[in-house]
Amino acid sequence: MIGVIDSGFGGLSVLKGLLSDMPEYDYVYLGDSARAPYGSHSRETITRFSEEIVEFLFDRDVKLIIVACNTISGLALRHLQNKYIVDAGLKDKKNILGVIFPFSEEAATKTKNKRVGVVGTKGTISSRAYETEILKIDPEIEIFSMPCPLLVPFIEEGWHDKPEAKMVLKKYLRPMKSRHIDTLILGCTHYPLMMRDFKKYMGSKVHIVGDGSVLAKSLKDYLKRHPDIDKSLSRNGKRTYMTTDDPIKFKKMGEKFLGHPIPKIEMVNVEGGDGK
Ligand code: DGL
Repeated sequence: MIGVIDSGFGGLSVLKGLLSDMPEYDYVYLGDSARAPYGSHSRETITRFSEEIVEFLFDRDVKLIIVACNTISGLALRHLQNKYIVDAGLKDKKNILGVIFPFSEEAATKTKNKRVGVVGTKGTISSRAYETEILKIDPEIEIFSMPCPLLVPFIEEGWHDKPEAKMVLKKYLRPMKSRHIDTLILGCTHYPLMMRDFKKYMGSKVHIVGDGSVLAKSLKDYLKRHPDIDKSLSRNGKRTYMTTDDPIKFKKMGEKFLGHPIPKIEMVNVEGGDGK
């Protein structure tokens, strides 16, 4: 089974891409809505929360975890990989992958003028994880980053179509426009819900990176290079949805991100120990 984890329901925008391009695999999605949003938490807190989620899923039949959350990917992915994969000697059996590398690779490939913008939560931007990955791929690329902390609350309230949210987005994007970037990474699970507005304000010449299809492409490539892990993943088209908070709220918002109904959602407790 492939586990997809997030601070809440935003990561369903990533799962959407995986389900559409790789529907044969079994997926379990776990959103830690009870402790979301993660975007302004410290690295220590994000690390502790994400360790609990990873342990919870690895205790079940999960062989590969996709960290859909940019904030976890930026602040804790390396630590999680070292603790649960490298130090545990499980490199050929299990893995934990994030979103920063696939999005960075896509942006580095797409940019022509080598000017890339990144928007995300405070945690993601302060981690400088996108800068690190992009510069590893191409040291000549200039990166312009902007935290957009007000967007997640607007989107979580279902206000992403309201003029107030559009006004805030426009204000955040103004400095990006003046930097003449030609590629913009939406480094937050929630932002694809405002994709139309991002496109409108940045203009048709700016390529926007941030939907789940990029991740599906990268995951397919990863599984080709890691046949042992690929072979260990079950393929019955099964989907399991879990949240640490009220399933009704998760369903209402989650379906917007996923784009189709979620029939059953389990409420789980991941805190303290193995979560069982
Ligand atoms: N999932 C988070 C991310 O992609 C956004 C929501 C949050 O702050 O928890 O960074």
